[in-house]
Amino acid sequence: MCPARHSFLRPWPGYQRSVETWDALRARRNVRVFSSRPLSADHVDQILEAGRRAPSSRNWQPWDFIVITGPGRLAELSRVSPGAGYVAGAAAAIALIAPTPDGERARDRTHYDLGQATMSIMVAATGLGIGSGHAGVADQLRARKVLGFPEDRFCPYLIALGYPADRPLAPIVRPDRHPFEDIVHREVW
Ligand SMILES: Cc1cc2nc3c(=O)[nH]c(=O)nc-3n(C[C@H](O)[C@H](O)[C@H](O)COP(=O)(O)O)c2cc1C
Repeated sequence: MCPARHSFLRPWPGYQRSVETWDALRARRNVRVFSSRPLSADHVDQILEAGRRAPSSRNWQPWDFIVITGPGRLAELSRVSPGAGYVAGAAAAIALIAPTPDGERARDRTHYDLGQATMSIMVAATGLGIGSGHAGVADQLRARKVLGFPEDRFCPYLIALGYPADRPLAPIVRPDRHPFEDIVHREVW
């Protein structure tokens, strides 16, 4: 990676900070309608870098990321599962590619670690005002045909990216979540 090309790697004084982490965490939501505004290449790279830096079990980093911006390919990808239709309208998508797990333990580690990479990607995107949305991939054959990843890999998820068309990202005051007191246990259950 060439530092000169990636402004997010330059921590010089006056380095432009994005919104604070706490704001980004509260503002992230699944965005499924995107404006036609394109994403800058630097922003996309910063989002990918967030994924690359994610922690993983024994640092095995079970991921490759394929970035898709072509409308034709995004439209094709939107057909990989019933829940992926909205990917067709995204400015970009990141396909998470991982080694096909050879057992239950490997599968658990893979999904846990891809989840961590996903959340890093989504929080980084939110910090830049860019919306993101998950889409599970059911049809691996179609995904492989569109993306050309090797036989020993699979693509469990797509992350759609783009500026939200419904409303800008802003901290959500009352998130649709179980009440704090119901799910937080102190010392013991
Ligand atoms: C593992 C996983 C798979 C998901 N798959 C899809 C999907 O295929 N299509 C979709 O529209 N949303 C998908 N979602 C988004 C969830 O529905 C969403 O995160 C959840 O309803 C909470 O909403 P929020 O992200 O806006 O807070 C997925 C989320 C996760 C964590």
